[in-house]
Parts: sequence; structure tokens; C-alpha cells
Amino acid sequence: MSTVPKFVIGNWKMQARHEHGLQLARDIAHAMRDTPPPSHLHTIICPPFTQLDGVHQALREVCLPHEQLAMGAQDCYPASSGPFTGDISAPMIRDLGARYVILGHSERRQNHGETDAIIRQKVKAATAAGITPIVCIGEHLAERNEGRAASVLSTQIEGSLTRGFRGILAYEPVWAIGSGITPSQEELQRKLQLIRALLPMRLMTDDIRVPVLYGGSVTSVQAPSIMSIEAVDGVLVGSASLEAQSFLDIIGAAAEATAPQPSP
Ligand code: PGA
Repeated sequence: MSTVPKFVIGNWKMQARHEHGLQLARDIAHAMRDTPPPSHLHTIICPPFTQLDGVHQALREVCLPHEQLAMGAQDCYPASSGPFTGDISAPMIRDLGARYVILGHSERRQNHGETDAIIRQKVKAATAAGITPIVCIGEHLAERNEGRAASVLSTQIEGSLTRGFRGILAYEPVWAIGSGITPSQEELQRKLQLIRALLPMRLMTDDIRVPVLYGGSVTSVQAPSIMSIEAVDGVLVGSASLEAQSFLDIIGAAAEATAPQPSP
């Protein structure tokens, strides 16, 4: 029986107002308590900073094991404290119950000028605070069309991951985010195999399996075929995670597509 954990992660971005976010968290948590997904499936929801505390309380009310349903933040600052107006540190999000943090999302690389070096500092800070980093990498459309995806991914892996990285990697081609377009199964399989082949340059030992997820326009319609690709360890979901039923449908599809096969 397969015991490799699979992940469904919801990235709410800056999109749910306070009450909507808390209700969304409650709806997801209650549905998962009533119909628990299989234990190999780990669900993580990542609200904006302002909702971390409330969402954490909502998740605690249902008493699900944190492997089953946990909370993450969408960013953290590289330093643990100091005169950094407007920033939020990894220990601060840990205090509010975050177990994960998304780092290096393309929207932060693009809108905040985050470089691989900055992301690596954040990975270090998160790890030191006991938070699992979810690092996003992915090429732009022009880079893909010019045949430069492999070198972009290689540079991002080498630059943004720490040596001995312990976390999750999410392959999110920038052209697939919010576009309604997903890579073909064949392209996704090829890219994920490439990423797996590149990973050992940042890992100290061979026996660590870094979960590699796919993100970009995932809905419950594409989730089964994406999750059935062997190299895919889960999905990072943006807009389809903002509505409880569509997110629960993705969790259901992921559970079905990755159900351990009984040995013959
Ligand atoms: P999307 O976003 O599912 O809305 O394309 C995914 C992401 O940016 O993580």
C-alpha cells in the first residue's frame, strides 16, 4: 500500500474578506470532520495574515489531526524581529498556528521584486521557526516558448532552496496561474521529472522525498488527471479554493485519484 503523503493546498491570496474567510474555514473543516478524507491526503489552507488567528480557532473547533487539515501563511519576512515596518516574521505566524508558509509565489517575485536569494533567506527563517516552507517555482510563457524552462527551473531550485531543504516544492508555470490553461499531462510529467532530477543538488541525502506539487488553474475538473500523474504529489489551488464546495470537490478528486491500491 502506498503511504506517500499527497497534498491539497488552498492559497486564498488577498481575496477573502474577514467573515468570508472564517466561514470558508468553518465550512471546509466541518465537511472534513463529517467525511474525513483518507489519511494519506493532507489539506492545508492559507488565508491572508489578518485571518490566521480566526481561521486557526475555526480549525481547532473541529479537532481534526493537523496532518489532515492545517493552516499556512502566504509569506514571511527573512528576519525574526526588528524595525521592519509592515512586515510579519515566521515566529509571528507560528504564534498564530501556521504550520506552513508559501514562499516565492510568482506574484511576490513579480510584484515585490523577490529574488531567489531573498526567498532562500525566507526559507531559512521559516525552517528555523519550525514552519514548513512551500516554495513556488515556475517559468514565464516566453521562457517556455523559447525552450528556457529547464534552465529557469534549475536556477530557481538552486537559488531559492536551502542546502538540505526540508519542505514542499510547488511547480506553478506563471502562464497557467489564473489563466484557465493547464499544461498537458505529458508536459507536466516531463517538467516534474526534470524537477525531481534537479532536486538532489539542494538535498544533503538521497533518502528525503520532497513533495512536488502542481499549481495553476486547478479545478475539480482537472484535478483527477493531474493527481493521477505519478510524479505529482499534490496541487496548489488559487481561485477554486475560495469556495468551500469547489475546494472540497478537489479534495475528493485527489482522494480518489490517489487511493492506495491494495497489493494483488
Ligand atoms: P489559480 O492560482 O489556481 O487561481 O490559477 C494558483 C496559484 O497562484 O497558486
